[in-house]
Order: sequence, then C-alpha cells, then structure tokens
Amino acid sequence: MDRPYSLLALLVSVLLCITLVSIPSGSAEPVTAGTPDGSELWGYVEVRPKAHLFWWYYKSPQRTSTPTKPWPTVLWLQGGPEMGPLDVNLQPRNSTWLQKADLIFVDNPVGVGYSYVEDDSLLVKTDWEQAADAMTLLKALVKEVPTLQSSPLFLVAESYGGKYAATLGVAVARAVRAGELNITLGGVALGDSWISPEDFTLSYTPVLLSVSRLDDNAGDEASKIAETVKEQIAAGNFTDAEGSWSDILQFINTRSGGVDVYNFLTGSLDPASSSASTPTGSSFPSTVHGMTKYSRYLSGEDSGPNTIYGIMNGVIKDKLKIIPKNLTWVMENRAVYNGLINDIMKPRIDEIDELLSYGVNVTVYNGQLDIICSTIGAEAWVQKLNFLSLPRQSLYCNPSKSTKGFSRSYKNLHFYWILGAGHYVPVDQPCIALSMIGSITQSPAS
Ligand SMILES: *[C@@H]1O[C@H](CO)[C@@H](O)[C@H](O)[C@H]1NC(C)=O
Ligand SMILES: *[C@@H]1O[C@H](CO)[C@@H](O)[C@H](O)[C@H]1NC(C)=O
Ligand SMILES: *[C@@H]1O[C@H](CO)[C@@H](O)[C@H](O)[C@H]1NC(C)=O
Ligand SMILES: *[C@@H]1O[C@H](CO)[C@@H](O)[C@H](O)[C@H]1NC(C)=O
Ligand SMILES: *[C@@H]1O[C@H](CO)[C@@H](O)[C@H](O)[C@H]1NC(C)=O
Repeated sequence: MDRPYSLLALLVSVLLCITLVSIPSGSAEPVTAGTPDGSELWGYVEVRPKAHLFWWYYKSPQRTSTPTKPWPTVLWLQGGPEMGPLDVNLQPRNSTWLQKADLIFVDNPVGVGYSYVEDDSLLVKTDWEQAADAMTLLKALVKEVPTLQSSPLFLVAESYGGKYAATLGVAVARAVRAGELNITLGGVALGDSWISPEDFTLSYTPVLLSVSRLDDNAGDEASKIAETVKEQIAAGNFTDAEGSWSDILQFINTRSGGVDVYNFLTGSLDPASSSASTPTGSSFPSTVHGMTKYSRYLSGEDSGPNTIYGIMNGVIKDKLKIIPKNLTWVMENRAVYNGLINDIMKPRIDEIDELLSYGVNVTVYNGQLDIICSTIGAEAWVQKLNFLSLPRQSLYCNPSKSTKGFSRSYKNLHFYWILGAGHYVPVDQPCIALSMIGSITQSPAS
C-alpha cells in the first residue's frame, strides 16, 4: 500500500423508506429532511461558508428512556455500515447498535461521503479545524434532533476517527462546561484509534515478528524506518514523518508477503483479486490489501450484487433528495488526506488526558489482530496516561462460554481487548461489539 487512505474512509449506513423533505429556509440555515415518522432525520449544516457537513440520525425502535436511565445516542466517527441498521444489500443487520442507542452518522470531515466544500481550499488542515466544524454541526443538531438534549451523547470512533473524537470530545466538554452547549457528554470511545502514531509505528516490527510475517532481517530494517518516524515526530517534521510512515507500510507490504495490516490473520490477497475489487472511481494506487477486504465487505461482493458506491450514488441518493445532483459520494478522498497531511502523525494523547481530567468516561477498545493500530501500540500510549496494572475481567457473548475479550477500568478510563478482531471490530466480532457498546453507553437495553 502507498497510503492508508482507509484511515480517512467514511461511510454512512443505509435504510430505505418513504421520505419527506422540508423546505430549506435560507442558505445558511440547516437543511433537514427525514421520514414521516421521525425515526430518521438527515441534513446538511453549512459549518463555514461553502463548507457543508452531512449528517444522518436514526432513532432506535427499542428506545425506552427514564430520567434515571436515559436512552443514549452514539455519534459515530469514521466508517459506518458496520453497525447501522441495514447492510449494503439493504437487508437488516441483526447486530446493529441501534438495539442499544440512537445513532448519528456524520460524513466527516468536509469532502468525504455526501459532505462537500465548494472550493478545495476550504478542506480542513488540522484535527482541531475538524473539531470546530463538528461543534458547529452539533450546536445545530441540538435544535434539529429533538431527542438530543435529554440523551447522553457518546462519541464513538474508529481508526483516524479517534483523533477527531479526541479533539471534538475536548471541544464539547469545554463548551458544556462553559454553558455554550446544552447536552450531556456521556463518554468517548476509541476503537482501534490512531491516537499516538509514534507508538503504533514502533509496534509494527514486534507484532509482525511475533506472528512470523517478518524475519529478523526485515525486522531490523523496519525498526530503522520506525526510528526515523519517531525522530521526525520529535523534531516536529510531521509531513516528513507521514512520508516515512508510508515507507514503512510499503516495506512491510513487500517483505511480509502482503500481510493485511487491518487483520493479520486475513492473509495475503493476490494482486489480481486485489486490484479487481478496488472500488471503482478510486484513484488510489492499488489500495491497501486490508482495505480491499473491507471494501469487499462493504460492497457486499461476497453476498450480493450491490456495491457501496452503487447504492450511495443511486437508491440512497434518490431517497435523501437533498444531495446536490452533481455530487458523487466517495468513501475516500485524497484531497482530504492531503489537506490533513501535516496533522496525520500528530498525537492526541494530551486531549485524552484533558477529557479524563474533566471526569469524562473514556473507553479504549482494540481488536487483537489489528496491525495498523495494534493493541500493543494502544497499550503503549495508554501507559503514558499512567493507566494502572489492575486485573482484567473476561468477557463473554451469550450463549457461548468462550472468552471473547477482556476489560479493565481505572476511574473513568476503560480498556477493552477484543479477541479475534482486526481493525474493524464491529465487522469481525459483532456480538461482543454490540454487548460492549451497551455497557459503554449504559443502555437501558443492556
Ligand atoms: C445474527 O445472524 C448471524 C448469521 O447471520 C447468526 O449467526 C447470529 O446468531 C445472529 N445473531 C442474533 C443475535 O440473532
Ligand atoms: C438544557 O436541556 C435540558 C434537558 O432537555 C432542559 O431541561 C433545559 O431547559 C435546557 N437548558 C437550556 C438553557 O436550554
Ligand atoms: C526536520 O526538518 C529539518 C528541516 O526540514 C531538518 O533540518 C531536520 O534534519 C529534520 N529533522 C529530522 C529528525 O528529520
Ligand atoms: C455542482 O453544481 C454547482 C452549481 O450548479 C457548481 O457550483 C459546482 O461547482 C458543481 N460541483 C461539481 C463538483 O461539479
Ligand atoms: C462513567 O461510566 C460509569 C459506568 O461505566 C457510570 O457509572 C458513570 O456514571 C459514568 N460517569 C460519567 C461522568 O458519565
């Protein structure tokens, strides 16, 4: 792979039914539409002039709420169809997180999915610029989504979305404390999240050596590149560090026989099948091996005729009605990646510390088989928070008696180890992921 664009991939989940579009009132006003029964709402918020964020809200059919046990809302950052109500073939997903919480998907940052800018110079350059846009969106959503004021909001993230959740979480926590935003921040959950690029990069060699995907010679060379990344980060050369990080991923791909960096057990894909299933319209250099499998999962190639691109630019666009005619839905956008190039390798550990200091519940969960955001890399950055070495609790998924994972808590910090999962935890272990989100959100449905 040349670039791990999937860290920036963003998708929304889908549901078909009759739509009702309200008339937009003035250009800077939010444009909101939805289903007649109010179970779905979606719209655009112009977060800056000519920069439009798209959002989509689903109300849970299982919703029950009391003042002591309020029904939670999950704002999902990055990815999407993994826990939405329907799969890409528009079939119900029985592990949907809608069973535990209302869901809000945001095509974030501007420039991905249905979100767009009218001029590329308006793309975000930093994680914090992203947080400012998302805060503007949230302030609008408090008015647009009637359930939001009385529902604890959980920012749940995957991959690069974890950095967005860190900066947005701090922005929300500060705004709530300052009385500028009237919501309850229930917590922040970081799934296989890119919080400390240095720690993840340094973990690649030990992980790959331990699972026989690199030999000692290759390991030595990979470690040298990782050290360069570390030095460049220390020197503040973040764009250079991104280049070296891309180099190490390329090196690993070559020397490991094409290991899937999103799940090392997936094994290699032959180049022919890899390029064949690269999403159409993707200009990315024969994208990532792991991404290929993920795209295939999303596009339903294994189980049905639909592709994510086909439905998002077809039936879903038709359903939503408010998407500009000439906008093409994209999962990944190189211009967005390049806009953020100087921020990609910056850590967001300080933001997590700030959240913890406010007493916000922070949960880290990680798939055992992930490499790109590996578990030992996550443990390394969590150690920098002085997370104590307390005993772990085993996790099960009914009715099975086998251990599916472990968890540990210290005050308001929680860590979940998810066995048998790669980067995309809800895809690989839907049952334990669903039970985990129930616990994190203290869902009345748990
Ligand atoms: C969901 O579906 C899968 C297979 O499609 C099945 O193995 C699993 O038991 C189902 N889970 C629930 C909670 O119904
Ligand atoms: C904030 O939200 C709560 C819960 O819905 C509501 O009771 C309260 O009036 C709101 N306060 C303001 C200032 O809007
Ligand atoms: C960082 O960049 C500066 C200037 O581009 C260069 O002089 C310095 O050697 C770089 N440091 C590292 C560790 O790469
Ligand atoms: C779409 O159309 C609008 C107005 O007709 C135009 O301003 C915009 O540049 C077009 N966008 C693309 C991507 O072609
Ligand atoms: C944090 O989560 C625990 C349950 O894990 C809950 O009891 C507690 O109220 C939460 N704290 C805050 C501040 O939300």
